[in-house]
Amino acid sequence: MSEYKGKTALITGASSGIGAAFARELARRGMQLILVARSADRLRQLADELGAQYGVRVEVLPLDLGTDHAAERVRAEVERRGLAVDLLINNAGFATHGPFEELSAIRDHEQVTLNVTALVDLTHAFVPQLLARRGAVINLASTVAFQPTPYMAVYGATKAFVTSFSVALAEEYRGRGLRVLALCPGATDTAFFDVVGSDSMAVGRKRSSKQVVATALRALKCGQSVVVDGTFNALLANLGKLAPFALAARVAAFITRPRKSPQPEAVAKRTR
Ligand SMILES: NC(=O)c1ccc[n+]([C@@H]2O[C@H](COP(=O)([O-])OP(=O)(O)OC[C@H]3O[C@@H](n4cnc5c(N)ncnc54)[C@H](OP(=O)(O)O)[C@@H]3O)[C@@H](O)[C@H]2O)c1
Repeated sequence: MSEYKGKTALITGASSGIGAAFARELARRGMQLILVARSADRLRQLADELGAQYGVRVEVLPLDLGTDHAAERVRAEVERRGLAVDLLINNAGFATHGPFEELSAIRDHEQVTLNVTALVDLTHAFVPQLLARRGAVINLASTVAFQPTPYMAVYGATKAFVTSFSVALAEEYRGRGLRVLALCPGATDTAFFDVVGSDSMAVGRKRSSKQVVATALRALKCGQSVVVDGTFNALLANLGKLAPFALAARVAAFITRPRKSPQPEAVAKRTR
């Protein structure tokens, strides 16, 4: 994708955090947007704000991406509205945190469905048009992708999947006009930690969603297939990659081991 202006981005998880920051920056660059998440009101509010501020077309598509055939419904709806996608940003995702046996099996299933299955399904749904339009895909991974992550074992594994999947696709499509980027933020200041129920596992000072988006768009321009946001996070990710797997997991456990019993309200949020 050489230019943003007049092209169309589809962003999942656009109702808050990193997804909303992508929406703001891409609207500023003149892109049309299709915003997907479950919170219809928040999407509508953002769409109205960006449409008024930048004069771009912003469509909202309120949908639970964890439901059956969600990706196909998104593709059909995009077509029905007469749009085609140049930039797909698979951003919707969440984490669970705690001793594995204490976590909700249903919630972990939902996590794999959203972080992995929906992301693969959406990529399948849009790759033909992305190839034809010489577009791009940005998939949200994480710095946890670089080492096993005890107490966030499922989340870490989903993000390792996303990174491996994205870099593999980047290689498949190299020279065919479609770019694929795995974006790996470290701790970022969003609602993510409210959903997790704790931010005790966040390492270093949290970065802003705006910084994460800037890192992604720079990396996309340079043709990178994977990027870690922030120098400190990149250093930690490299250490994680260098250490033997089991040792890296043991070190990670020091950071991610739950510090105290979760508050009742945090548990309620986790299982909502
Ligand atoms: N924040 C961090 O420290 C951090 C670090 C590394 C990676 N990440 C990754 O960055 C991505 C964005 O997270 P964030 O930090 O911006 O968190 P966030 O503010 O909680 O945003 C998550 C987004 O996903 C949407 N979402 C959740 N479940 C959904 C579902 N079933 N169907 C459709 N949309 C759904 C949410 O909207 P609704 O609730 O309206 O559906 C929301 O827009 C995630 O993939 C996360 O794993 C975050």
